[in-house]
Amino acid sequence: MGQYSEEIKRRRTFAIISHPDAGKTTLTEKLLLFGGAIHVAGAVKSNKIKKTATSDWMEIEKQRGISVATSVMAFDYNDHKINILDTPGHQDFAEDTFRTLTAVDSVIIVIDIAKGVEAQTRKLMEVCRMRKTPVIVFVNKMDRDGKDPFDLLDEIEEELHINVRPLSWPIDMGQRFKGVYNIYEQKLNLYTPSKQYVTENVEFKDINSPELETYIDSMQAEKLRQDIELIEGVYPEFDIDTYLRGDIAPVFFGSALNNFGVKELLDCFINIAPFPRPIQAEERVVDPEEENFTGFIFKIHANMDPNHRSCIAFVKVCSGRFERNANYKHVRFGKQMRFSSPTAFMAQKKEVVDEAFAGDIIGLPDTGNFKIGDTLTSGEELHFKGLPSFSPEMFKYIENADPMKAKQLNKGIEQLMDEGVAQLFTNQFNGRKIIGTVGQLQFEVIQYRLLHEYGAQCKWEPISLYKACWIESDNAEALENFKKRKSQYMALDKEGRDVYLADSNYVLTMAQHDFPDIKFHFTSEF
Ligand code: G4P
Repeated sequence: MGQYSEEIKRRRTFAIISHPDAGKTTLTEKLLLFGGAIHVAGAVKSNKIKKTATSDWMEIEKQRGISVATSVMAFDYNDHKINILDTPGHQDFAEDTFRTLTAVDSVIIVIDIAKGVEAQTRKLMEVCRMRKTPVIVFVNKMDRDGKDPFDLLDEIEEELHINVRPLSWPIDMGQRFKGVYNIYEQKLNLYTPSKQYVTENVEFKDINSPELETYIDSMQAEKLRQDIELIEGVYPEFDIDTYLRGDIAPVFFGSALNNFGVKELLDCFINIAPFPRPIQAEERVVDPEEENFTGFIFKIHANMDPNHRSCIAFVKVCSGRFERNANYKHVRFGKQMRFSSPTAFMAQKKEVVDEAFAGDIIGLPDTGNFKIGDTLTSGEELHFKGLPSFSPEMFKYIENADPMKAKQLNKGIEQLMDEGVAQLFTNQFNGRKIIGTVGQLQFEVIQYRLLHEYGAQCKWEPISLYKACWIESDNAEALENFKKRKSQYMALDKEGRDVYLADSNYVLTMAQHDFPDIKFHFTSEF
């Protein structure tokens, strides 16, 4: 057992993900209330970008500013240290969310009982599946009418491609919602609609006892008994290891707004959710209990102040103990760096910290030294991987609109790409630069920031592209042949890897068919 073992085992680092409006912000806030990190509801500002503001990017950035404070919310609960990593709700920032998922050990997915599985949930779950991240599902808004819970479970299994296991079960819903039976703790949890009030549980081991009818009416009691019987018959016993492997997702029901079912979720979460796990680096597996510090940058947040190009680089501590003012190696630069004011994020306050352990997130003030994926160590030559870029969905040529500022433009583009704002591809045929994003917003963000932070002006020109995919082959000749045949559509990404730019789904399908030796990848990591 390592000397930091105790610290590590009490940490739970996770993200809450959902389609916008399912209740992520509300749930986060209720969790913070339990942790005593805040004292009144409404204290957590949603970093949700309001729908009306999508064309006003200044407004968006202002709102996004809030998200620095809420990027990581840490609090103590029952001897555990909880680190919640916030993710932007707006789908144009999905790439941010994907990267945040590389820094968590588990995930809670919030689903709206009425809406079921939505687009954003599907996409985010794909990333969790890829990484085998354990997930817990929280079905929210039980105080409203929605889908039949069994149907919803089927939908989750089908759409999210994960097996589920209910650990609580609702007693009716909407106006008739009476509460949930907590299968995990064998307790009856009765509902009192109140936004601030934490409900009491009734120990209830045998739901076949007629005592049940003293709490809920006989029809609801009968229905609950039948439902639980069905659940026990249809779904496998809950098994922690299966959950930890990412093969089964326990499901809870509740109403975040009414603070209902949240404590049960949290209590089960701290019991079953994983503490920091070993991480595969390129060279070897890194165990969190190792004495030497290692960590990687998963997110860079640009400062709001355009006059100082300062950022905060978010580091996930993977092993050992991080200490303020100690020397650490910036592996990509091969140089030593010291950090005099690393910050931690306790609830909503940012404060300078002296130490951090595996599972923690620290913010390092940065002036352009870091890019996403950089590794810091006590001295070892180590590279963490697992920060894939996804094939963007929108593409535009970026052109210089001010010939006097070409240098500034190039520098600006390079740094913004290092920050992970978007992806850059250089067409090998005509040398033009193409920016790929997941949403229209990024183009506005880039243009604005190039002007205000770098004094450079860019203009966008349309390009009709369907997808950019990374290609490789074991057959060097076939690869060369493909590149020659598709020379007009070949580009290099920022790291110099071969990327094929397909202009339509049809063309891509044909290429996959015609060139069986070529592997087409839709994420940068393969
Ligand atoms: P998000 O972060 O996932 O986008 O969702 P958020 O928590 O902001 O919740 C979206 C809306 O759903 C909010 O209403 C919130 O109050 C509501 N909500 C959350 N949980 C529940 C619940 O358990 N039951 C019900 N009935 N509603 C819930 P809003 O009107 O959009 O915002 P607000 O003005 O209430 O803040």
